[in-house]
Amino acid sequence: MFTCCRFIPFSGGPRKCVGDQFALLEATVSLAIFVQNFSFELIPDQTISMTTGATIHTTNGLYMKVKQREKVSVLAAAL
Ligand code: HEM
Repeated sequence: MFTCCRFIPFSGGPRKCVGDQFALLEATVSLAIFVQNFSFELIPDQTISMTTGATIHTTNGLYMKVKQREKVSVLAAAL
């Protein structure tokens, strides 16, 4: 798939990042592993705002309470 400039941090043109596809796959796999193994709870009463520069990100961060999820065996859940 043609990905030039769709995600600005990888840049574009003949010297664009050669690892862009790998990095996007790695990000997807990392996110899947995080949500499988941890639960995320938003810390209340935060002012969450967005800043746009080379990338779009939160202005002051986005704080969450992260807890390890209890592992449930797929076989045990099916019984
Ligand atoms: C989120 C992850 C990544 C970001 C944001 C990123 C970003 C960039 C950027 C901005 C450039 C410079 C492009 C230019 O000069 O116009 C670059 C070059 C490069 N990146 Fe990445 N990169 C990432 C991950 C990776 C990975 C995982 C690899 C290899 C497995 C990789 C390999 C390279 C190489 C070899 C170049 C030099 C390309 C050249 O000069 O021809 N990058 N990257």
